[in-house]
Amino acid sequence: MATLVCKACGERFPDTDARWRCGCGGVLDLDFTPSLDPAEVAGRPATLWRYREALPVPEGAELTLGEGFTPLLPVEIGGREVLVKQEHLAPTGSYKDRGAAVMIALAAHLGVSGVVEDSSGNAGCAVGAYCAKAGIPCRIFVPADNSPGKLGQIELYGADLVAVPGSREDTAAACMEAAADTFYASHVYMPHFFHGTKTFAYEVAEQLGWRAPDTVVLPAGNGTLLLGAYIGFTELAGMGLIESVPRLIAVQSAGCAPLAAAFEAGASVPAEIRTSPTLAEGIAIAAPVRGADMLEAVRATDGHFLAVEEDEILAAFRDMGRKGYCIEPTSAAVIAGAARYVRSASPDEVVVTAFTGHGLKAGDKLHKLSGV
Ligand SMILES: Cc1ncc(COP(=O)(O)O)c(C=O)c1O
Ligand SMILES: [Zn+2]
Repeated sequence: MATLVCKACGERFPDTDARWRCGCGGVLDLDFTPSLDPAEVAGRPATLWRYREALPVPEGAELTLGEGFTPLLPVEIGGREVLVKQEHLAPTGSYKDRGAAVMIALAAHLGVSGVVEDSSGNAGCAVGAYCAKAGIPCRIFVPADNSPGKLGQIELYGADLVAVPGSREDTAAACMEAAADTFYASHVYMPHFFHGTKTFAYEVAEQLGWRAPDTVVLPAGNGTLLLGAYIGFTELAGMGLIESVPRLIAVQSAGCAPLAAAFEAGASVPAEIRTSPTLAEGIAIAAPVRGADMLEAVRATDGHFLAVEEDEILAAFRDMGRKGYCIEPTSAAVIAGAARYVRSASPDEVVVTAFTGHGLKAGDKLHKLSGV
């Protein structure tokens, strides 16, 4: 099936180990060879499991709430057409369902008796929902000052919610302590999560008739979508199903942009930065664990990082609303990045981006931000 490989020391572990990092502290990747026959995929149900030969969980272990195969719709952004994956229409309202479906399917297959996870909100909702579906007890650690809607959604799924005062890093530290004796279903550490989000790339390629777009504009917080898409497009190119990996444009909030700063400086690891409050709570990650990988992936595709300002995020949020789309402020940061990117793109370039989270997640803020 697949093998866990430590990125720091190269040690290998069977993926039947319920392990989230190496004994040396290194982050794990998966050594996995996908296969896929587009002709077989065509008649399958519209969930991410249609790519099941490319997913690193055993046959029969699939877990679904109907995630994946979101519409790819043309939307006017920055004065021209951009193709937008409607990831906010996922079962829990964000693309994190892709990662959670695959990761919790594996956890259920391994027979774990419970999981812990830490999140700025949306990953916690996704892990909570899929644990509910699988009947696995879960405890989710979140920053206490997060959107109340997301905290309530996590509770609704029956998860044990632990609201941690302080920073996002304080939340992660509290969760890691709990992970000493419970399976850490981490969307940052567990490579299976990224093999769930990679289906974003598979779907875009299939929806374009097994072709890659020229450019994909994605968020850069912990990189769960960015790195997943990079894995997916790289696998598709390796299988000869697309010609090449598209250019990746990675968007950060200027209030928290360690990767945009590192990219500008030509550095290979995230820069140490000062942060300021941002509407884009989901991408406000000051020290992303897989930051070096994100810099490498973006450079490998001849892409770049963008840091968008608060006024651009708010303008994109309102612009999408006036066009009929209710997206999260974090999601609006990505659209602001796409709007900025297309100003310098060539007119015939096929540009894809995503509505990453549903606006109703931030229901308490909609009136204030609506501009009415
Ligand atoms: C709505 C939304 N968009 C984007 C992101 C960016 O995350 P990542 O870079 O880990 O994919 C998040 C993370 O929580 C999110 O909730
Ligand atoms: Zn190691």
